[in-house]
Amino acid sequence: MTLIDTLRDRRQKLAKLIDFPAILWSGKSTPRNFAANTFPFRASSHFLYFAGLNLENAAIRLENGNLELFMDDPPSSNTLWHGEIPKREEIAERIGADSVYPFAKLRQSIYKSATLPVQNIVTRQQQDKWLQRKASLEGVDLKLASAIAQLRLIHDKGAIAEIKQAANVTVKAHLAGIEATKSAKTEAEVRSAMEQVILAHNMTCAYSSIVTVRGEVLHNNHYDNKLSAGDLLLADVGAETTNGWASDVTRTWAVSGKFSPTQKDIYDVVLAAHDACIAAIAPDVEYQEIHLLAASIIAQGLVNLGILRGNPEDLVAMDAHALFFPHGVGHLLGLDVHDMEDLGDVAGYEAGRKRSDRFGLCYLRLNRPLRPKMVVTIEPGFYQVPAILNNSETRTKYKDVVNWQQLDNFADVRGIRIEDDVLVTAQGSEVLTAQLSTNINEFAS
Ligand code: GLY
Ligand code: MN
Ligand code: MN
Repeated sequence: MTLIDTLRDRRQKLAKLIDFPAILWSGKSTPRNFAANTFPFRASSHFLYFAGLNLENAAIRLENGNLELFMDDPPSSNTLWHGEIPKREEIAERIGADSVYPFAKLRQSIYKSATLPVQNIVTRQQQDKWLQRKASLEGVDLKLASAIAQLRLIHDKGAIAEIKQAANVTVKAHLAGIEATKSAKTEAEVRSAMEQVILAHNMTCAYSSIVTVRGEVLHNNHYDNKLSAGDLLLADVGAETTNGWASDVTRTWAVSGKFSPTQKDIYDVVLAAHDACIAAIAPDVEYQEIHLLAASIIAQGLVNLGILRGNPEDLVAMDAHALFFPHGVGHLLGLDVHDMEDLGDVAGYEAGRKRSDRFGLCYLRLNRPLRPKMVVTIEPGFYQVPAILNNSETRTKYKDVVNWQQLDNFADVRGIRIEDDVLVTAQGSEVLTAQLSTNINEFAS
């Protein structure tokens, strides 16, 4: 299938789900420090899904399967700074648009259209002004959000091929990171070795890389720590293809190449949860059950190590597992690393379901039955987060179920996560990042 066929198929499917026109803005790049020095432009994912190309300051109007493209040709002075850029007619032909107009004409075509709010604030203001209402996830916009989520949840061939490309490059980046650790002195050096692989494939990072010996800081985006022989290094790094499709992978390895006995004990608990969750993936399985499976295996593992006391079922019911595994077991993956999170829980949660306020469930980003061609991550972890474990209320609430003295023996384990990208298939699942081993004996060499 060519790009044009894929895009046509997507908009025809959308036409079956909605009976009103939809307008999707691509957005604008955001200045870093002065207007001409901008962050790299990345179009809104909903726009990319139907338009296929990373076009700045453009919009598409979709109605009954037709595609209208709205964008301006750059002024001729632009050539000096940016070279020759294809004319809008040429771009329209590439994406199979039925017609193409200057951007300003969009304002006259906006009547009774639904839209989705973009992240770029300047474009967002334009959306509200031109629509003469707030673009929000309500009313007709919510109907559009639900329809697009329904499509993007189940990946087509074009999407799966892209995610596989991102996954393959991500695997290579992690192998480069493991190799670089043998001589690197700092987190920054390992990060650069990993991102170098991604850049060399003309891809970008799908999110800010996490490469840290302080894995307990869940979204740690600092790279200034030195590497010491006893440290574990947690690397959560994923490539995004040129067309915008993501991957999201974490491995945790020993800086020295060798895990200490306590590090290995905890790694094995996380790995047992990871493997069991992947084995449980199949159509119709509830993703929340997979999360709870991870929680109970982690609880059981920590009981076996003498860190928790009690039976795993009761421990999970009182969220004791979440002291050490405070996030969800994973999320949707697609054009966004947390796919469609801009729609709140519209994509992640089955209609009628709401986030739990339980500590052990409130960060679960996906609560739906799995369906073939969904792609999800599986990423259990273990962390010693001081803000959780040193909190006096927590200490009181869990005083009978945590053996704090025994926990002290595991002080050399700050954070471990093992994360893979998994395609749900008719029979079960395919791990798209399976080429990257989770066996610690293969990290050491
Ligand atoms: N890389 C962010 C996450 O794993 O969800
Ligand atoms: Mn993830
Ligand atoms: Mn990740």
